[in-house]
Amino acid sequence: MLPRRFASTSTLPPTIRQLLSSLQPTGQVTKVQLSGWIKSVRRQKNVTFAVINDGSCASGLQAVLKPNATPHNLTNGASVRICGNLVQSLGREQSYELHVEAVDILGECNPEAYPIQKQALPVEFLRDNAHLRARTDINAAMLRLRDSVLRRLHSYYEAHDFYYVHTPILTSNDCEGGGETFRVSPASSPSSRQSPDPSAQAEFFSQPAYLTVSSQLHLEALAASLSRVYTLSPCFRAERSQTNRHLAEFWMLEAEWAFINHVGDVCYVVEESLKNVLLQCRSENALLWKDGEEAKLKSLEDASRPGIPWTRMSYTDAVKELQKYHASSRVRFEFEPAWGRALQSEHERWLSERLVGGPVFVTDYPTSLKPFYMRANDDGQTVACFDLLVPFIGELVGGSLREERSSHLVEAIQRHGLKEEEYGWYVDLRKYGSAPHGGYGLGFERLISWMSGIENVRECIAMPRWAKRMLL
Ligand code: 4AD
Repeated sequence: MLPRRFASTSTLPPTIRQLLSSLQPTGQVTKVQLSGWIKSVRRQKNVTFAVINDGSCASGLQAVLKPNATPHNLTNGASVRICGNLVQSLGREQSYELHVEAVDILGECNPEAYPIQKQALPVEFLRDNAHLRARTDINAAMLRLRDSVLRRLHSYYEAHDFYYVHTPILTSNDCEGGGETFRVSPASSPSSRQSPDPSAQAEFFSQPAYLTVSSQLHLEALAASLSRVYTLSPCFRAERSQTNRHLAEFWMLEAEWAFINHVGDVCYVVEESLKNVLLQCRSENALLWKDGEEAKLKSLEDASRPGIPWTRMSYTDAVKELQKYHASSRVRFEFEPAWGRALQSEHERWLSERLVGGPVFVTDYPTSLKPFYMRANDDGQTVACFDLLVPFIGELVGGSLREERSSHLVEAIQRHGLKEEEYGWYVDLRKYGSAPHGGYGLGFERLISWMSGIENVRECIAMPRWAKRMLL
């Protein structure tokens, strides 16, 4: 459990987690008042057991009530305020229990109608009840894991003198050039398609505006001043793919820093920061793993070992390995691997799960497969970039050195058919004190999926959005 400050001077009453973590094993009895929701009720002849949780920890607290002091509306889902004595428990399941003196039902919950029942509920049913699913143990644990991972990442960056900065959500560029941007316009104005006047006058910002697909270009501008920066930002991609690793709205952690010359140095920071997180969040994510997934969990634990570096291989070597397997195996890939073609999800998973058996940085992809901003290698065919592929997920992180040479950058902008005038400011960064720099972007939901064993990124975010589906 993550130790957190327990501010005794706070006007906020302690949470269940704070109470439990502050207790000394002396057998003392502590009088407390706490609030939360009822997770289960077991009525017996002489006693009622109810589990109460306020969401601050996984276990909650067992409350013990006398039958005549148990209100009839103490049901699963009800919100309550309870006063009583915390005493060491005789039961094996928990170390403390609450001997209740008084219960206030703050909000009733009809157990017949309440959709969140005790037994495991189908994933689809919970997606349909997105407003209630944070009340399930698994979703709440996932949300706590997100918080915990983020705190560790913040600590890592802070320890390495990165500044946490905020970049815009509304932007005029499609950083990745993938044409997956969402267009933004005021609801009160006619949509761009209906508008008879597509001129700049009709635009709220005098030019087309999009939701960001990546903060990278803006981060680069800030790295050219603060040297080391990072951000966690929502990103939006009009992805039609209905895979278990794509969302239309997801969170990306992006870091960018100046004065590096090798893509391997970017990989090093990715590896060190992630190993840190994997090691420190071990106890939290262990709660989320289901029985029968020991092999996956072991592969995650192996990945967190310090001192054993993650494999690095060039795209060219990766394709050679894929081709060898494709030619020799009876189980062939659906897509034939070939130099110059994108790696498909089946290739990525084979490389990390079968060939390497762990995370692998695939570096130096062909120029034609990657966005305009990546730094050209001297071979004239590849760029100084990497994708980090991890078992059971595929691509988790993408990063590169950025093209800091003005003439190369302008040439790449033209080659990609981008409008030079839209990237004037970006080229400017290369005109005034250009410095070698690089960075990366990590899909936060994919990281949570890898760490928790939760198979679909739709269950790794509170309120998922994907094509044809946006509840709430
Ligand atoms: O590889 P991507 O597209 O890289 C970039 O956007 C760079 N500009 C980042 C940078 O260098 N600052 O995306 C980075 C990561 C992917 O590796 C993946 O984990 C995640 O973002 N990602 C998605 N996650 C969920 N749903 C989607 N639709 C995603 N698209 C990318």
